[in-house]
Amino acid sequence: MNQYVEKVKSAVDFLKQKSGVAPQIGIILGSGLGKIADVLQEPKKFHYSDIPGFPISTAPGHKGELIFGKLNNKDVVLMNGRFHYYEGYSMQEVTFPIRVMQLLGVKYLFVTNASGGLNPVFDVGKPMIITDHINFMGDNPLIGPNVEEWGPRFPDMSEPYDKELIKLAKRAAREEKIDVYEGVYVAVTGPNFETPAELKMFRNLGADAVGMSTVPEVIVARHAGIKVLGLSAITDRAVPEDLKPLSAEEVLEIAEKTGEKMARIILRVITYL
Ligand code: HPA
Repeated sequence: MNQYVEKVKSAVDFLKQKSGVAPQIGIILGSGLGKIADVLQEPKKFHYSDIPGFPISTAPGHKGELIFGKLNNKDVVLMNGRFHYYEGYSMQEVTFPIRVMQLLGVKYLFVTNASGGLNPVFDVGKPMIITDHINFMGDNPLIGPNVEEWGPRFPDMSEPYDKELIKLAKRAAREEKIDVYEGVYVAVTGPNFETPAELKMFRNLGADAVGMSTVPEVIVARHAGIKVLGLSAITDRAVPEDLKPLSAEEVLEIAEKTGEKMARIILRVITYL
């Protein structure tokens, strides 16, 4: 664990020195959701492979760069491409960038992802504001010795997604005239998509959308006291009765279309902060 702390600190030292800023806002862009990266002002890009200690991304549709810049005049640090558990990274590797953000001084984290809509009323191509989650990954990034300076051994999880940020996201969607859903996200490891029986179970458990990311990052962000807003692009219908064969290409294509709406919501929420 000490080695991990040292790795995080060396990444933070490197990034502080090279970027010269201390952003309060962190953003994670999921698969196919890179739109916001294009509108970042004064971008300073760091390839994950150039940052000491950083894991390297392998998933399709992922760029693998950390970008510092301004959105609506506010400093942000943006991850273009995340690390997935199914790629073979440990939970600590998946959440390494969140620890980096914590030590950089990030106070707000915006997370995005693509997910399958379990709720039968959900249409594909619309964003869902994540109101809560279920960790169904069978692992947890906080397992192991606790780093007391980073957060408590038994962190509270009564408000994983910040209520005030949810309100602001709803207001932003209204003002941008974008239809949004609200719901519970269940995280699985993947990499296979779910069987009909699994989808039925997740729906019965109370989930509205299913995906393969986000929950580890949110757990660590909450451990760190960072406030979280989660937005999910509903890319396919994950409803057992009308389940069709699903490909990653389809998911990426719809995510790209939905990403534009999610970018507008995030940009507007940033102006309210
Ligand atoms: N299941 C799991 N992950 C996903 C899905 C899905 O249907 N769609 C996009 N990511």
